[in-house]
Amino acid sequence: MENYRIIVATAFGMEATCKREMLALGYEKLQVENGRIEIDGSFADIAKLSIWLRTAERIKIKIAEFRAETFTELFDGTRTVNWSDFVPKGGAFPVDAKSVKSKLFSLSDCQKIVKKAMAESLKEVRNEDWLDESGSLYRFEVSMLNDIATITLDTSGPGLHKRGYRKLVGSAPIKETMAAAMIDLSYWNKDRLLLDPMCGSGTFPIEAALIARNIAPGLNRTFTAETWGNFPVDVWKKERTEAKKQIDFDTELQLYGYDYDPETIEIAKINADDAGVLEDIVFEQKDFLALGPKLPWDYGVMITNPPYGERIDKRDEAIQIYRKFGELMSDNPTWSYYLLTSNEDFEGAAGKKSDRKRKMFNGNIRVDYYQYYGPRPPRKEQ
Ligand SMILES: C[S@@+](CC[C@H](N)C(=O)[O-])C[C@H]1O[C@@H](n2cnc3c(N)ncnc32)[C@H](O)[C@@H]1O
Repeated sequence: MENYRIIVATAFGMEATCKREMLALGYEKLQVENGRIEIDGSFADIAKLSIWLRTAERIKIKIAEFRAETFTELFDGTRTVNWSDFVPKGGAFPVDAKSVKSKLFSLSDCQKIVKKAMAESLKEVRNEDWLDESGSLYRFEVSMLNDIATITLDTSGPGLHKRGYRKLVGSAPIKETMAAAMIDLSYWNKDRLLLDPMCGSGTFPIEAALIARNIAPGLNRTFTAETWGNFPVDVWKKERTEAKKQIDFDTELQLYGYDYDPETIEIAKINADDAGVLEDIVFEQKDFLALGPKLPWDYGVMITNPPYGERIDKRDEAIQIYRKFGELMSDNPTWSYYLLTSNEDFEGAAGKKSDRKRKMFNGNIRVDYYQYYGPRPPRKEQ
């Protein structure tokens, strides 16, 4: 099977988590850059990575990389590729453009030049004057960085955070990919209790259930590359069949999601049902401020994304929640706590400095992931 240079695009700061996932899938020789990981692989690897990676944003094929300081260089560099290897007759091939620190900064011009060079190449090979683009979608991107043009082909379609289970959302939902990364960065594992006391759409407990059951996150969605008749189509079915065999139906899980809003809890339940993990999670309508002081379990892991209190009229509510978080921490010292917020008053209000604080982006919002490591749970009796 043909080999490609595969780009696994990640959110900034998620490269190490995604790299760990790829190593666990058996991939080696990974080239890690800002916001992406590159490897050589086949189309079957593209299917595997698409279906299995929990923290990647999308999978692309790198098609060409060359220096281009002028539009002539961009045109000529694009022309060197045999585009009919990628775009079949009837294939639609839109081109997006990005430019950072490069002489070619007009996105619309970069996009037009690359599209023109591709079209000329295809017309020449096919001996046609006009290209029909009514068929499958092949979305390309030319990305200029420090005067180097990189042309890629997207294989994912909708971003990989769209697992297919979250058709309904509560307020300010967190991306599924980010929730999976935050769980990975915590000391939670499938033998431990996880509680998100402000769970909104249920993303944390649902992602934790998928991880614990070893359910591949892309099992219940499709990818744009599956519609490409000029690439192997059997790889997707094969990978899905294999992934289904690997589901762990046996492990007993302790996953809890609370929210004070009854409608939000109903949404979380629908999402969990769509993800096939409703029976694994206890969703309950509860007010965080009324929890405790002692929680009913020891050695639990709390992971949550509470309101940030960005609006002035919501600031006091957020501070109250952070204070309560601090109280729960001192009343339940065997627990580990993880909280994501953009509110810089969080540690002050909670009254405790975190063991580690990690900078992240929740969409465009600059946030911190506060981590408080509790003691390890005692070993279970055999
Ligand atoms: C930022 S959203 C959480 C989003 C969630 N991680 C998701 O992916 O959908 C914050 C949630 O906290 C809930 N909330 C706010 N105050 C609460 C309280 N006192 N008790 C319980 N839930 C609360 C809100 O209803 C909202 O669903």
